[in-house]
Amino acid sequence: METTLIILKPDAVQRGLMGKIISRFEDKGLQIVGAKMMLISPELAATHYKDHLGKPFYEGLVRFMTSSPVLVMAVRGVGAIEICRKMMGATFGSKADPGTIRGDFGISNSYNLIHGSDGPEAATREQELFFKAGEIIPYERGNEGWIYDLTGSTPE
Ligand code: RTP
Ligand code: MG
Repeated sequence: METTLIILKPDAVQRGLMGKIISRFEDKGLQIVGAKMMLISPELAATHYKDHLGKPFYEGLVRFMTSSPVLVMAVRGVGAIEICRKMMGATFGSKADPGTIRGDFGISNSYNLIHGSDGPEAATREQELFFKAGEIIPYERGNEGWIYDLTGSTPE
């Protein structure tokens, strides 16, 4: 089981798309194990996007991410990191395939609705950055045995 960090960015919140996007993850069978609204501080945005420091879009990215509240989520499932990245689609809304979140709901390259951790290391680092201890709750789902085949040693 993996848990990934998803951020519904300011444009998703402002455009009232939170419910539709959350539904896609829930419909897929992924489990929301953490969720909170927050206003990202410039310091937190800088830490989160430190790898992009110095790139031409960096200043605008930090301004955008701190401009209005976001919804931060911890999303759990087998292979959740890669599955969520696939569901998000390519970085730019103009290029993302139909059927993906960015492809279906956005057309902008900068305002691309959603962030998802790009690997296991980032997922751990980002969860620690955005959630305090106890805010991620890995509760048991009543229908888990119908979402995964649990008859073997690992969920299939
Ligand atoms: P993210 O980190 O937000 O999940 O997105 P990503 O991996 O698909 O894309 P990344 O290369 O990490 O870029 C981070 C965010 O910066 C903005 N961006 N704008 N206008 C531009 O050329 C440009 N390039 C990147 C996007 O908001 C992108 O998600
Ligand atoms: Mg990225």
